[in-house]
Amino acid sequence: MPHEEKNTRVLLDSRPPSFPSPANFRIVTDAVPKVGRDEVLLKTLWLSIEPYMILGMKGSAPHSAKTGSDRMANLANGYLGGVEVGTTMYGPTVSRVVQSNNRKFAVGDVVSSYSGWQEYAVDDCTTLRKLEMGTVPVTAALGVLGIPGMTAYAGMKLIARPSAGETVVVSAALGPVGSVVGQMARIAGARAVGIASGAEKCRYLENSLGFDAAVDRLSTNFAQQLAAACPRGIDVYFENAGGAVWWAAFPLLNEFARVPVCGLVAKYSGTHLDTGTDRTMEVLERLLLFRIKAQGLFVFDHADLEPQFLQEMLTWVSQGKIKYREDIVDGLSNAPQALVAVLTGKNVGKLLVRVAA
Ligand SMILES: NC(=O)c1ccc[n+]([C@@H]2O[C@H](COP(=O)([O-])OP(=O)(O)OC[C@H]3O[C@@H](n4cnc5c(N)ncnc54)[C@H](OP(=O)(O)O)[C@@H]3O)[C@@H](O)[C@H]2O)c1
Repeated sequence: MPHEEKNTRVLLDSRPPSFPSPANFRIVTDAVPKVGRDEVLLKTLWLSIEPYMILGMKGSAPHSAKTGSDRMANLANGYLGGVEVGTTMYGPTVSRVVQSNNRKFAVGDVVSSYSGWQEYAVDDCTTLRKLEMGTVPVTAALGVLGIPGMTAYAGMKLIARPSAGETVVVSAALGPVGSVVGQMARIAGARAVGIASGAEKCRYLENSLGFDAAVDRLSTNFAQQLAAACPRGIDVYFENAGGAVWWAAFPLLNEFARVPVCGLVAKYSGTHLDTGTDRTMEVLERLLLFRIKAQGLFVFDHADLEPQFLQEMLTWVSQGKIKYREDIVDGLSNAPQALVAVLTGKNVGKLLVRVAA
């Protein structure tokens, strides 16, 4: 590591009152940190931008993961622990080992890491995973073969469990979670219906990812279009967003429908529809009368599923049965704007920041 090398970092400068803006961040350049015993120095290659980051900017999210492994427990703390003002923004990364005092990792290894929004990071190696992905590009470790892909996998295998002929609807369908949900539905022989914003994304879902139908959540008659795309109702509604998309899907839920509740982007971004009326009893009544199962999904509860997930998903991706799309932004200084984009649906696929070549 050349001594003159500097470390550029993006710090959280202030907590956003509601929606984040680039003004909530500050970029600093300082010395590359020193590596201690059993630690490695990582150079960030790729940074993942994810909707939950807004929660960390606002403080820590309440959580108690049933993690089952130290790696998952540390990852859960990383994801949900919150970011202190004045410290480096957190986030999953793919990095290269450039110095190593740890016998499990050699210089040159490419790893899945949690280095946050910075060029270099010292890591104690407790959450690192060496990437051995054959011909699949390493960026997939931040999407389809990373936490988002595993979230979809856990939700589909443990909660949704679709059968052939059933209808599976997923919101935020072109993201790394939603796109895996829809394609796993197709693998199971179910009808996959995606909800996304704009005609381009909907076309991509149908023409390139094999969804049976895709509905534009911004169209004026969105609820009618969703109903038309689900002529036999909805058996699985995989919730990534909440708000208006939930209210359109809810009346279509069939008897014994399953609803993995995975994320609420509409709430995180403050764009959820305030109906002005309390519809709690309406929801509870349908859950009761239709024997619907809605269950919160927390990927970190399912560490035991990780080996099976990695093996099966890598096979599917290698065979082209699961495809994915990436949306790449260049340079760490563009990360704040990228976070705004993911919260407003401006991303087309898994949003990544290329930090170094
Ligand atoms: N529970 C867990 O363990 C876990 C783990 C990982 C991720 N998650 C959650 O999974 C969900 C998907 O994550 P991802 O990384 O795949 O995100 P993503 O799809 O790449 O990005 C979020 C997407 O949400 C959609 N969106 C934004 N505002 C919306 C609104 N008001 N109504 C409906 N949709 C809206 C946008 O897509 P369109 O504009 O195309 O609709 C946007 O692209 C998120 O809620 C995330 O927090 C949960």
